[in-house]
Amino acid sequence: MTLDNTPARSRRDGDAIDSESIGIERPGLLPTKPGGRPHNEPFRDIVARNLARRTFLKGAAAVPVLLAGGSLFRSDEAEAAGRDGLNFRAIRPSKVDDVLVPRGYTSEVVLRWGDPLFPGAPQFNPNNQTAAAQRRQFGYNCDFVGYFALEGDRRALLCVNHEYTTGSDMFKNYVAGAMKAQVDIELAAHGGSVVEIVRDWSGWRYVKNSRFNRRITGDAPMRITGPAAGNRLLRTSEDPTGRNVLGMLNNCAGGKTPWGTWLTCEENFNQYFANNDDVADDAIREAHARYGVTGGASGRRWEKFYDRFDCAKEPNEPFRFGYVIEIDPYDPDFVPRKRTALGRCKHEAAATILARSGQVVVYSGDDQQFDYVYKFVSKGTYNPGNRRDNFDLLDEGTLYAAKFNDDGTGRWLPLTMDNPRLARRFANQGEILIKTRLAADAAGATPMDRPEDVQPNPVNGKVYVTMTNNSARTSIHPDPGSATSNPRVPNFNGHIIELTERGGDYAATAFRWDIFLLCGNPNINLLTDLEDLVPGLAANATFFAGFADANQLGQIASPDNIGFDSRGNLWIATDGQPFSADLGQPNDAMHVVPVQGPDRGRLRQFASGPRGCEVCGPEFSPDERTLFCAIQHPGEDGGYPNTTSNWPDRGIIPRASVVAIRHPDGRKIGT
Ligand code: FEO
Ligand code: CA
Ligand code: CA
Repeated sequence: MTLDNTPARSRRDGDAIDSESIGIERPGLLPTKPGGRPHNEPFRDIVARNLARRTFLKGAAAVPVLLAGGSLFRSDEAEAAGRDGLNFRAIRPSKVDDVLVPRGYTSEVVLRWGDPLFPGAPQFNPNNQTAAAQRRQFGYNCDFVGYFALEGDRRALLCVNHEYTTGSDMFKNYVAGAMKAQVDIELAAHGGSVVEIVRDWSGWRYVKNSRFNRRITGDAPMRITGPAAGNRLLRTSEDPTGRNVLGMLNNCAGGKTPWGTWLTCEENFNQYFANNDDVADDAIREAHARYGVTGGASGRRWEKFYDRFDCAKEPNEPFRFGYVIEIDPYDPDFVPRKRTALGRCKHEAAATILARSGQVVVYSGDDQQFDYVYKFVSKGTYNPGNRRDNFDLLDEGTLYAAKFNDDGTGRWLPLTMDNPRLARRFANQGEILIKTRLAADAAGATPMDRPEDVQPNPVNGKVYVTMTNNSARTSIHPDPGSATSNPRVPNFNGHIIELTERGGDYAATAFRWDIFLLCGNPNINLLTDLEDLVPGLAANATFFAGFADANQLGQIASPDNIGFDSRGNLWIATDGQPFSADLGQPNDAMHVVPVQGPDRGRLRQFASGPRGCEVCGPEFSPDERTLFCAIQHPGEDGGYPNTTSNWPDRGIIPRASVVAIRHPDGRKIGT
């Protein structure tokens, strides 16, 4: 291969995309149609207009629900600024068992694992947990946090995912598969919560008996919709229709739609299933293996008590997990819908944005070493005049996987029966979607370093793609595009790619890409020029969008979930810093980095989580005066009761919790 000496790119000019035409060099200016209307009406306005029509919100003030990572767009602000507006004293990496925030800021716990959510629900008692209690309490391991306004900045529904359980951290004397009662508690602790929160002079608190409160569990009834619904691969003895399923599992991050619904994403669903080796059908067994379903017993042993987790007995059940699920948080009776049109993988998140055509675009990463970045483009268009009209938009459209070329261009490859590479191998569109990974393999998508969050920046229009890390990338990948877009060997600290859709159109099938960050410790090996990013870079090479002064830079590893403030600054939550030798193994954290202006790339740390946690979010209130984060799995794997953290209650057991970070003078976060 000649790749070793091939510059990653020489594409600063002469590219197919006219940056002027999409406004990316003019921060804050949306491209304008001949008639003078912006192509992309700000999401905040769209949602506010839409939800304000809702009758139960009568009398409520403006109802800005934030989208695409909690951002809101104000062209006047961004244009006047051209600045990042950041003004806080960055904190240092820490191993302290607490949530640390910059001087002057406060953090408060709003919701903890086990908090009672309904009338008569019992208080949390770690020594007397029951499934019945857990069904009425806030679940375990909170991840995604979505703010859905009821009254602007002071009353809202928080939609929170409960990704997974760790029995050894939950129960005394835990032995996997020993007690059905523990399995049932864990099933009840999975899924998600909708919880009303209010803010008064003293801060945010949750409303215990709100009529909106809801627990969605690992066995809650839900529907399967879209092109794969009813497919023979989705039929089981419990559900011969292939259209109804119990539960959602391993819901990691998610997103929000312009019509005010919650998207929640099933990630590592494979870990719940057992005995793939005993599946007789070769094609089914191979498909499950591609998703990591184990050949023997599962680590959890739930298959001992529930046949559906045993592939030998129910070979199709794993096909019913791995989806993006849409839920209307404003309707406690809404039956969740698994949207098969968005594909089946280890979905990290689902960021939604409107193309100028009005089509809905959903970006998603498949969080696995050497897996892919996806985007869905709806067939229909968004109807701002009737909220309900949009509820089935995510059931029909085109799913694409990303192909990164080594010259800095890229293409979105359609995963459809019209793609000749797929028509030969799949029976129908339903099968393509159920076996999304295999379809993307066949289409020629680019293997990436664990794609996590994929979010459009509402100020500069570019799309930011986080790659958490990839210790298995031990040699230069034979696919040149994969080698240049994932240039470090190995990639211990993760990186972020900046992607520009052709013509600024989110529905486009071509894009350009650049490396935005190569995470790590800039004091060790800081590169300052894109031209230096050749394939096969040393693992400790770092790049902060060209920012050259290591003394002004923070340190970061394992970027995971992201969001933007109204100035377009990129906020990054991490999941894996304690494993980074280059950083000295600090706790996971929240960072912020400007994407434009003189401080582009100047990353600073804003918060630090307690020991053993990952930090999830970020999610801003509409006024940006509150930053919500989920602190997931504090003290993980210490084992009850010897956990490495006792946050937040300083009691015997750590409790994953949602925190609200504010400044007493009410300033916008980070300013
Ligand atoms: Fe649940 Fe990809 O993190
Ligand atoms: Ca995550
Ligand atoms: Ca993660």
